[in-house]
Amino acid sequence: MNYFKRSVLTLSLLAAGAVYAAEPVGVSIDTAKPGPVINKDIYGQFAEHLGTGIYGGLWVGPNSKIPNTKGWRNDVVGALKAMHVPLVRWPGGCFADEYHWKDGIGARDKRPVKVNTNWGGVEESNAVGTHEFFDLVEMLGADAYVNGNLGTGSAQEMSEWIEYMTSDSKSTLANLRRKNGRDKPFKVAYFAIGNEAWGCGGNMSPDHYADLYRNVETFLRAPAQYRPKMIASGGNDNDISWSDVLSKRLKRQTDGISFHYYTIPTGKWEVKGAATGFAEKEWISTLANTLRMEQHMQRNAAAMDKHDPEKKLGLFVDEWGTWYDVEKGTNAGFLFQQNTLRDALVAALNFNIFHAHADRVRMTNIAQMVNVLQAMIITDKDKMLLTPTYHAFEMYVPFQNATFLPVTLSNNRQYALDGASIPEISATAARATDGKVYLALVNTNPREAADVALALPGQQVQGVRGRVLTAAAMDAHNTFAAPQAVKPAPFSAKAVDGKLSVQIPAKSVVVVAVE
Ligand code: AHR
Repeated sequence: MNYFKRSVLTLSLLAAGAVYAAEPVGVSIDTAKPGPVINKDIYGQFAEHLGTGIYGGLWVGPNSKIPNTKGWRNDVVGALKAMHVPLVRWPGGCFADEYHWKDGIGARDKRPVKVNTNWGGVEESNAVGTHEFFDLVEMLGADAYVNGNLGTGSAQEMSEWIEYMTSDSKSTLANLRRKNGRDKPFKVAYFAIGNEAWGCGGNMSPDHYADLYRNVETFLRAPAQYRPKMIASGGNDNDISWSDVLSKRLKRQTDGISFHYYTIPTGKWEVKGAATGFAEKEWISTLANTLRMEQHMQRNAAAMDKHDPEKKLGLFVDEWGTWYDVEKGTNAGFLFQQNTLRDALVAALNFNIFHAHADRVRMTNIAQMVNVLQAMIITDKDKMLLTPTYHAFEMYVPFQNATFLPVTLSNNRQYALDGASIPEISATAARATDGKVYLALVNTNPREAADVALALPGQQVQGVRGRVLTAAAMDAHNTFAAPQAVKPAPFSAKAVDGKLSVQIPAKSVVVVAVE
């Protein structure tokens, strides 16, 4: 029943002297049927040489007045550490297919200056290269996901980069790495061969890409203990032909296939919709478009199941998130957008979907970490703020490496507006590495709270304790003048007579431990 119909019903019942009480949404967590482990890398990040995503937002250089460690901003690195970033993808994106790694090693003042042809045509100083990137991930305690250049690179260039990063020998390239300040090999967790080969990565067909991949991967040799997981660059949106062809043709040479899907409020790239000041129509369309990720996961997983029923290959959603019209007055090539409560719900809905597909989806990267698209952090010179999306990630930390638990929802209503209709409550649960059961709930309805009755069959529930993220406005966001406008608040409830009822506020994300 939609909001309007329910309100009419409430009014009619009240007029008739009846007491109206909507039946609660039943949430039942089956702890007896644990599913797969939710790989921590599902909470991965993406940092591309794009706009101020790296330069200014993260990297200021060792001589900057902005406090930094080895050139990386202390404030931003500290905040990212606090949200337990498990993995960072670098250097692109489209940028990766024009990046030549040898431009980014050695003395920084001798590195060639290039043009960032993908993103605003600005100068690329190459100040951030391989060693700087590993300084960042090692400070974060995160793993590295390096994206190779297939578009304008070669098998030789990629194989030399792998040798430079991972060889423990006394080869000339390994010694060059030592001369540049790094004795032991770097740990490369994942290495992708190209990016968006169907578009900015070279406008190829899946079969042409598969031929190139097979050839290049043959030469990417690394010592066993340093061998990265190899990633084939896959499809996007409704196109599952890439997952189909690549899982068939590459299954002996790859660890997984990537997939990209962005949430666009209008569903149209030409006029995507604004990050703030939007009407409820774009609230619901944004969340409805986000929920399309579920079909994408189902369809890609089904395509892969045909050729890889043992599920050896991962489906890696290495770009996802909201993509709005750029903020007025900013460089259109920098993809800077504000980030609101709506973005936090988009993130949480995606997490819930990824958890449900954890048997196949083992790594994802939100686009992007700082100042670009659906960012965790926004900076302005020496100032920094945390976005609502940051808080969603940080609230979901207990789900990293937790064991998925099935949740059954009953009596879940639809939230509907203007012909669009989505389930009001989205839920996910898992047993975390601390042994506790965690539950995350999203109320997509921006107007009405939802009553939830929680049960763990066969177990007594004492209560729940955790945090809620919500705000008065759909587009509530943090600014440098009010950086704490949207932040999590404590949330708890106690069982009465063995029954636990919880009210989930309108437009909110709730993450609790079950006690
Ligand atoms: O994340 C921004 C861009 O979106 C990436 O560079 C590209 O891979 C995708 O089209």
